[in-house]
Formats: sequence, structure tokens, C-alpha cells
Amino acid sequence: MWANRLKTWAVRLKLRRDEQIRALTAAVTATAQTVNDRDAHIRALTAKLQERDAEIVSISKWAAELAKQNSLLTAAIAGQSVQETSSTTQEPAVDPLVAEARRHLEKALSHISPSQPSYGSRWQPQIDAIRRDIPALRDSMSCLHYAQKEITFDGRPPFPSDIMQIQFREWAVENEFPNLISTLRQMYDNPLSYSESLGEFNGRTISRIFYCHARIVLAGITYANKPKRILEIGGGYGEIARLWLTNTIAPAESYVIVDIPESLFFAEIALRCEFRDQVGYFEGHDPGTRILLVPIPYLGDLTRPADLVINTGSMQEMTDEWIDFYIDWLNRYPTRYFYSLNYIAQPIGVMGESRNLWSQRLGANWSTRHLRLNIPLLDLEGPTRDFLEALYEKTPATRSLKEWSIDRGHMLSKPTYVEGLDLLRQDFTIENAKTFVEIVMERMPYHPKELLYIVEWLVRQGQSQFEPLRSKLREELGGFLSHAPAAPKQG
Ligand SMILES: C[S@@+](CC[C@H](N)C(=O)[O-])C[C@H]1O[C@@H](n2cnc3c(N)ncnc32)[C@H](O)[C@@H]1O
Repeated sequence: MWANRLKTWAVRLKLRRDEQIRALTAAVTATAQTVNDRDAHIRALTAKLQERDAEIVSISKWAAELAKQNSLLTAAIAGQSVQETSSTTQEPAVDPLVAEARRHLEKALSHISPSQPSYGSRWQPQIDAIRRDIPALRDSMSCLHYAQKEITFDGRPPFPSDIMQIQFREWAVENEFPNLISTLRQMYDNPLSYSESLGEFNGRTISRIFYCHARIVLAGITYANKPKRILEIGGGYGEIARLWLTNTIAPAESYVIVDIPESLFFAEIALRCEFRDQVGYFEGHDPGTRILLVPIPYLGDLTRPADLVINTGSMQEMTDEWIDFYIDWLNRYPTRYFYSLNYIAQPIGVMGESRNLWSQRLGANWSTRHLRLNIPLLDLEGPTRDFLEALYEKTPATRSLKEWSIDRGHMLSKPTYVEGLDLLRQDFTIENAKTFVEIVMERMPYHPKELLYIVEWLVRQGQSQFEPLRSKLREELGGFLSHAPAAPKQG
């Protein structure tokens, strides 16, 4: 009995132990499974982390590349150049064309006489800015865009969104030169100009300022009878030259630009981009090229003649000393015509960009062949200044103040004032000057700047009765002029 009970108890015990062992084994297996699962999860997480790390590395590389491209684009938009770096200096390389222009500039500057007058408060600060900025200008496009945007060569605005602004300008020029419409339609702006200034009109690329440049060429061709040899004083960055060289009716055979060396730097680059070795630089001798750039310090050595000398939007901004300098030079230089398009008759108190009291004061050795006060196209540009367009021929003047239309009943207005001024310059005597001043003071509703020039001249001729008037007019003078103008040169 006890043996049976013991046996049964032992069997039960064994069964219970087996059950416990099974349960324990199941638990261990489950735990192992969990550990395995966790390991797999950890491995998967680790792999994911590694993937993320790789992604972060490639994103950083991509961001660096984007930042580089962004700075290149910003530089391009700002008109600066993106150049290969030179292995020795780590400085961006300079375009050979720019390097050559820099060399010419340095040499011309070393020839400036210490007695050369200042360029005046309109141009001297701009020349100083150009000198400061040239080292950063390394390729042709940057130079051209700098000239177009930073310097007041032509005040080139962005292309207008209202196309009628362009249509009116085209009509204004066509209406003045109806026989040259097809020539105008074949003229186009410099395609390298900064892109926001350019647009398409009547089948070619133009800008708003293009019409001012093109009109000067058409006027010169019309009034000076298709001149072949042109010399331009103050040619900006060479855009008028470019149009005169490429127009289809009377392309220039010889085009000379005389300018301040720093301004000529831009004309050299812009013209070389298109005309390459047709462009020469005067450094004491004439290389005989179709286009010749003459910096002021070498002007005295230039002998190449011209049919026509032009000056547009430029003498108006020079000081009286420079006007005298160029009148003197024009008297000696072998040319037939001189074309001028500059301000006139500004009120003494509203000088604006003007830096002299009388720009068109040639002596009696020049006859007037064409005189026009105000140009419709220029009124579209901004009707706040009066321009005088004039063509003079180097032959003794035969007219005099006696012909002035106000003696035949005309009112004294801007056009008759300008007519009288031009008659006076041809016969500049003390008596005529006194008559002119008296009539203008009596009948003109405002005091134009040339009046002060004439009064100052009379005082210097010993006409002391004009001193009070001189002081009164001087008080009206709008802040720019500081030196007393020199006496007019007689032919
Ligand atoms: C307003 S820009 C006119 C550019 C061009 N003639 C036109 O009509 O578009 C004036 C020009 O006169 C030049 N200039 C200023 N003073 C000068 C001087 N004393 N002698 C020669 N050129 C001068 C400037 O360098 C510049 O090229």
C-alpha cells in the first residue's frame, strides 16, 4: 500500500517536474525569441542610422554645391565675372582684352600733365570711382555693364514694360529723318548690353536709349552730308561709334574717340569685343586702324583729319576751362564740320548737370549751318532741359546781331534768345554784347546762364557798369560753378 502510494506520488512529482521543465523551456525559448527579435530590430535600426548618416553626408555636399552655384549666380547677376582661378595667385584671371586696356590706361595716366585742369565736379568724382573699381573688373562683360549701370555715360534705363514708350521714340526719329527709316530699322543695340535694358522691336534688338544714339548718327549723316571720317569728343563707352561704324547708309571709314583715359578704357573694351584689331590706341603715334582711341594726354600729337567732329551730351558737363581748351583745339584741328548737341538757355539757378556758362561759344571762324532748339526725341527722354543741336562749318562767319529777328517784331523767347546768342558769337564785340545783355535783361522772363557769361566778359573788358548785374546774377547761380570763366576765344 505505502509502496503504491509512494509510486503514485513519484509519478505525479515527475509529471509536475516535466510540466515545469516544459514551461521553463517554453519560457526560455520565448525569451530567446524576444532577444533575437530585439537583435534584429537593433540591427535594422543600426542599418537605418548608417543610411541616414550617408544621406546627411551627401546632403551636406549638395548644400555646399548649391551655395557655390548661388554665389556664382549672384556674382553674374551683379555683372561680375566668374573666372578660372590662376594656380599661382588664387586670384581670378583677367581677360587679355581687359589687361591690354588696363595697360593703355596706365600709360595714358602717366602722361597727364600736372597742369591739366580738373575734370570738374560732374566727372572728377566718377573718374575717381572708375579708378577705384577697375581692379575688380576682370572680363569684358563686367566692364561694359559697369559702364552702363554705374557711370552716367548714357543713363541707360531698363527696357520699358509699356511698348508704346518705344513706339513713340521710333516715330520721333522716323518723323525727323523719313528718308532714313530703312537705315534706322537696320540699326540695333549692342547685344552684349545688360540684358534688362534690351528688348525686341520691329525685328531687331534695341533699348530705350538706343534711339538717342541712333538719332545722333542719322543727324550727322544728314546735316554733314554723309561724312566718312568722324572724330568724337567724349564718346562714352563707344555706342555712338558702334552705330556709326555699322550703319548701312554711310558707315564710317575712320572713327576717332578723344576722351578722359578712364572713360576710354570702357570704349576700348566695348569696341574691341566687336571690331577686334580694327581698334587702335594712340600712344604717340597713329597705328592707322579704322577705329582710333585717343586719350586726352596725347591729343596734341594727333594729326589724322576728320570730316566731322561731334560732341553730344558732353561739353555741357565740362568746366569753362575745358570748353576753352576744346574750342582752341578745334580751331587748329583739320576738320570741316563740328556738330554739337548740348544744353543751352538753362536758368542760372537750375544748372543741373551743367558745369559751364556757355557750351556753344565758337569764335567767328565758324559759320552756323544748322541750328535747332529742342529735339522731340529728347523731350520724350525728359523735358526738363533745352538742348541745342548745331552744325558749324569752319569758314569765316558772315552774319551779325543786326539780323536778329526781334528787331523785326519777334518776341524774345527761348528760340529767339538762342538765335541772338548764335548771332552774337559770330560778331562778339563789346557793343554787341552790351546790346544783347540789355535786351535780354529787359525782355526775357528769366535769366539764362549764358547771360552771366557775357556779363562777366564785359566786366573783364573794363565795362565796370555791369558789376552790380554780375553780382546779382552770380547770386542766382545754382551751386556748381566756382571759378570765373575765361574770355571767349576769337577766331
Ligand atoms: C554723358 S557722357 C556722353 C557720352 C556720349 N557722347 C553720348 O552722347 O551718349 C559724357 C562724356 O564726356 C566725357 N568727358 C567729360 N569731360 C571730358 C573732358 N574734359 N574731355 C573729354 N571728354 C570728357 C566723359 O568721359 C563721357 O565720355
